[in-house]
Amino acid sequence: MRFELTEEHLMIQQAARDFAQNELLPGVIERDSKQEFPAEQIKKMGELGFMGMMVDPKYNGAGLDTISYVLAMEEISKVDASASVVMSVNNSLVCWGLEKFGTEEQKEKYLKPLAAGEKIGAFCLSEPEAGSDATSQRTTAIDKGDHYLINGNKNWITNGNSASVYLVMAQTDVEKGHHGINCLIVERGMEGFVVGKKEDKMGIRGSDTHSLMFQDVKVPKENRLGDEGFGFKFAMKVLSGGRIGIAAQALGIASGAYELALKYAKERVTFGKPIGMHQGVGFKLADMATEIEAARLMCLKAAWLKDQGENFDKESAMAKLFASDVAMKTTVEAVQVHGGYGYVKEYHVERLMRDAKITQIYEGTSEIQKIVISRAVLAD
Ligand code: CAA
Repeated sequence: MRFELTEEHLMIQQAARDFAQNELLPGVIERDSKQEFPAEQIKKMGELGFMGMMVDPKYNGAGLDTISYVLAMEEISKVDASASVVMSVNNSLVCWGLEKFGTEEQKEKYLKPLAAGEKIGAFCLSEPEAGSDATSQRTTAIDKGDHYLINGNKNWITNGNSASVYLVMAQTDVEKGHHGINCLIVERGMEGFVVGKKEDKMGIRGSDTHSLMFQDVKVPKENRLGDEGFGFKFAMKVLSGGRIGIAAQALGIASGAYELALKYAKERVTFGKPIGMHQGVGFKLADMATEIEAARLMCLKAAWLKDQGENFDKESAMAKLFASDVAMKTTVEAVQVHGGYGYVKEYHVERLMRDAKITQIYEGTSEIQKIVISRAVLAD
């Protein structure tokens, strides 16, 4: 076993770090405060290959592995978790889903512009009454022969207004329960499809989270992903990979906060020495460094399993569960290390603390991860 990144991995990590420092850091406080979507920055991320990192170059992707994706997600999330959630949904949920389960025509039409970052994708599973309990889909997609007719509402949709391609889960055959759910590709502009209210969120405020409304939206049959009734399985499979991305986001939020706390602890002097030299602060840094290292190894292990073509459901849930707790704990402590300065926007750690919380909630709450993990260990 070699705990070593390749030259290519290190280059990607550096490129993401440079991009985050040069392009994301300058306006991040303002975008958070104004809830401004990082449109220009996402466009540049597309040009650099960060929006379709794991997609085959023949579909405009960067053709990289999941380890590279984790490394880039960590670096981008250290600075701007709003930009990284856009990147995460586009890469892991939308592009990966389309590449793995789409037809050649769907890949040509939808995957190519998404992987190039020319378009942004959204993944639409959650509903007002179907969050954790994702099988309880109320949105319907009635089979009308050559098309489906979608009716219903979706909630908490990341990239809700900025996307142009939406993967929408909807119930076609109620009798069949979750085996009657389909995933349909809906385009922005289809008649009857309306983007609703924008959520005013605690964190990741630069990303746009919306409700969506579907009223008799006519979607051609060729826009169904996979076989009839594959929609729920599709969502589960895609979310399992997505959890590696969110785990890496949580890792980045934690390591971003830690790096700021470490720097501050070396510079800030009280009682005649840098505060890091006081045991109360030094021990906090030791805990942060240790837990971040463990979270990083878990993210990389899950990514490695995915790259090997092995089952990674348990490991991605474990990585997300652990890394999101580390993000929450580390960011709270990073604010504490900064004292009063930590409580103001200029020092970044308060934003990272607000951003951290969502990693324990989206793509399955921590409790959902425990369901996935406990079922896996009991079945072993
Ligand atoms: N891969 C393939 N199939 C899977 C699977 C996986 N990882 N996990 C479950 N399935 C299949 C099961 O095998 C089962 O199929 P069969 O009936 O054919 O055997 C089917 O899915 C139903 O599974 P369960 O019986 O386990 O279903 P459940 O009702 O007990 O719930 C759950 C399972 C894990 C709790 C699931 O509902 C779940 O993950 N909920 C959370 C949903 C979620 O993460 N939502 C996030 C929204 S998206 C988001 O946040 C994106 C964003 O904007 C950032």
